[in-house]
This record gives sequence, C-alpha cells and structure tokens, in this order.
Amino acid sequence: MSLNGWADRTYDSVFGPIRRNRLGVSRWRSIVPGTCVIGLQWGDEAKGKLVDLLTSRFEIVVRYQGGANAGHTVVVGDKTYKLHHIPSGILTPGVMNVVTPGVVINPPTLLKEIDSLAAQGIDVGSNLMLSDRAHVVFPWHIAEDKVMDQATGGESIGTTLRGIGPCYRDKVGRAHAIRLGDMFRPDFRTRVEHIARAKNRLLTGIGSQSEALDAAAIVAEYTAYGERLARYVTDTTHFLLDAVEAGKRLLFEGAQGSLLDIDHGTFPYVTSSNASGVGVSGGSGVPGRWINKVIGVAKAYSTRVGGGPFPTELDNDIGQKIRDLGREYGTTTGRPRRCGWFDAVAVRYTARLSGIDCISLMMMDVLSQLSEVRICVAYELDGRRTDRFPSHVDDLRRCQPVYETMPGWQADVTKVRRIEDLPVGARRYLDRVTQLVGKPVEIVSVGPDRAQTMFAGSMQQG
Ligand code: IMP
Repeated sequence: MSLNGWADRTYDSVFGPIRRNRLGVSRWRSIVPGTCVIGLQWGDEAKGKLVDLLTSRFEIVVRYQGGANAGHTVVVGDKTYKLHHIPSGILTPGVMNVVTPGVVINPPTLLKEIDSLAAQGIDVGSNLMLSDRAHVVFPWHIAEDKVMDQATGGESIGTTLRGIGPCYRDKVGRAHAIRLGDMFRPDFRTRVEHIARAKNRLLTGIGSQSEALDAAAIVAEYTAYGERLARYVTDTTHFLLDAVEAGKRLLFEGAQGSLLDIDHGTFPYVTSSNASGVGVSGGSGVPGRWINKVIGVAKAYSTRVGGGPFPTELDNDIGQKIRDLGREYGTTTGRPRRCGWFDAVAVRYTARLSGIDCISLMMMDVLSQLSEVRICVAYELDGRRTDRFPSHVDDLRRCQPVYETMPGWQADVTKVRRIEDLPVGARRYLDRVTQLVGKPVEIVSVGPDRAQTMFAGSMQQG
C-alpha cells in the first residue's frame, strides 16, 4: 500500500469552510459544544443505549478509549445492534462517528462490526472516521493477554482476552507499537517482521504454548484489512479541533466504567485506559475547555465482570435473580456478570472524579421485582465507618458495606414514561441515590428500548 493510501478527510471537506474573522479568528468561541457520557461503575452501565438516544442532539459522536473489549448494545424496535469500536451514533443518519487516537483498534473485529451493521441495513461509509494515530491490536497482543493474565500471581484480572492491555503496553513502550496510519507506510512489512521476531522470543520466554508468529502471514492479513479500512482513516485530531472551533456539537462516548480506570480505578483489576471522565481529552485530543456537560451513567444496582474486589456483591439468590432479570451476561465475552446492590460510596467517588452534572440511572425495571432493595451508604473498614472509596484494593477487600434497606415497589415500571408516574418507592429510591451521590438523577431507564427512557431537569428533551 502506498504512503498515506487513505483519504485525508478534513473538516472543510465534510462540513464546509470554518467561518473566521479578518484576523483569522474563528467565530464561535462562546459556544462550548461537548457533552460526555461516562460509566460510573465497572462498565456495562448501558451507555450505548443512552448515547444512541442522545445522538440526534449532536452532529458528531466520539469514541476516545478502549477497543474491542467494549460491547455496547443498542436496541431499536425489534433490532439489536452490538458495537465494539464504532460509536453508537452510527445508528443515526447524518451523524459523523469518530474513533480517536486513544482507542486501540482490532481490524478483523472492526470489519466484522462494519459487515454486521451493513447486514442489518446500517450504512458505514462517509459517516465513520478512524484516527491514523490509533494503535492497532495484532495477534501477538492477544497471545500475550492470554499468558499474562494467568501470570498475575494472585487473582486473575479476568481480561476480555482481546489484547487490550498488551496493545496499550506497547503504545507506552513505543518500540513495538504500530498505529493505524503505519499500516499504509512502506516500512510496514519490515516493522512487523522486526516486532514478530521480538514477540516470538518474549512469548516463548513467558511460557506461551502458542505457535510461532508468522510475520509474512500477518503482513498479508493486515494489508488486506488495511485495504478495506483505508477509506475511513484520517487525522481525526485536526478534524475535531476544527469542529469544536466551528461550534459543532460533540458527544463523547465512554467505554468501560470509571472504576476500571487505569489510574483511578480498582488497580490492578482495571482496564488499560482512562475509562473515567479524565480520559476524554487525552484520548480524543479535544481540550477540556470544549466540554460543558458530563452525564454519569449507573445501573440501579452494581455489576462487575472479571476479578477484583466488589464490596456489595451478592453471591446468593438475590444476585442470581438480578442476573437473570437484567440479562447480566457480557456482550463481548458472554461471561455471567457478578451482581450486587448499588454502591453509593463508589458512585459518589466516580461522580466527582468524572465531574458529572447529572446521573442517568439504568435498569430500574430490574429492581422492581424485589420485595426490598438496599443501598450501600458507607463502608466499615477495620471497625471504622468511612464514606471514602479506598485507593488500594487490599483495603477495598476489607470494606464491609453499610446498607440502608428500603421497601421494594414491586410494580411493572416498563411502561412508565414520566418520572413522576413511577411508584412512590421507586421515586424514593431515586431521591436517595441523588442525596448520596450528590448529583441529580435526570434520566431513568426502565427497559432496553429507546422509548423506555425518562428525562427530567436539564436533560428534558425540548
Ligand atoms: P481488558 O480491558 O480486556 O484488559 O480487561 C480488564 C478488566 O476490565 C477485566 O476485569 C474486564 O472484565 C473488564 N472490562 C473490560 N472491558 C469491559 C467492558 O466493556 N465492560 C465491563 N468490563 C470490562
């Protein structure tokens, strides 16, 4: 493939020229056009549904971290769409979807995603952009993920085995990294050969049973992927900087959840990117000054997949009931999710970390079938009550949840369309979440469909 074999799609070529005054200053400085949707728990908070729902208010939807470890499910009428890399805005015609430098891209998975959207009647063409700066997941990353997760010593992290951690590790290490744009450069073959040699030594050294990597086969395979992906690849950073200066409205779609943030989550049982609100600017290249609203998404209860402490986990019949009612099985891996009560200590921490304006509380219908519900309002750590989320997992492991118990509302809420029409028990629950987290619940979801969503306060559709 030739140097820059991809089409360079500029802001002007998509939206037309930016308006500037005679000194070259763009006109729209007073508009702050960015909104973020961030998970406040351990991922799987149904962010994809919310992004899809809000998309019609925006011109551009942006994915800025994570990769094929994410699984965003969006239900529209009788169709279910499963997205891994592509922003959920792809389901709304006329919206531009941008995958930025902070995302790690697995080409075969992305191409499957594009094909399965096409098979469902969704066109993926000029409405998708992939950053040439995004790093690429190669077969050696997946091989390393399998070996390294088993080698953590203690409890396994339980990664999604999508090569995410090893790819980010190579990004930071630089010597063995390949970015999407590199796949179109003349030295692509020699770089793969060089890296495959080093990876073969590494994988043998750490006891991988996998067969030796065949550099020539990988080059051939990835060159074919590159040919199909070339039309989407561009410099998304300039595109987005032009877009915000021109006053275009951007929606940033977080993947995973804040408690899985590499720096601020339950390390080492986290993912390898900044999955909380702090990751938006780093991953996308859009400065924080262009973001004026952050919506924190949480389930009305808690779930977690993979290893690591989970203070409110319910390893009992109630946990199983929540799993069954909420269909709590991973979109990406199919693994059963661990389920537990809403943890207000954890969510207050992540709400502050991500700087949220309001909460979107999802899956309220699932709790509707329980005779009583509990909220964790504090932890007891070594005999002392605390409302601070600890920085070390060993301390978190020793935390005993302090619960408040509320009567359940035991009524079908799936057809309720206004928050004020929810049963009184459900409204009390929302009020208590608001008080404990310190931010208002302004969106409530009572089922997977777009229609099963209620808005209040600043989020009221107008
Ligand atoms: P990795 O991101 O595959 O490295 O996995 C690291 C941890 O994050 C594991 O506990 C995974 O189960 C978890 N994880 C990664 N992606 C997601 C997600 O999209 N939803 C929920 N958990 C995730």
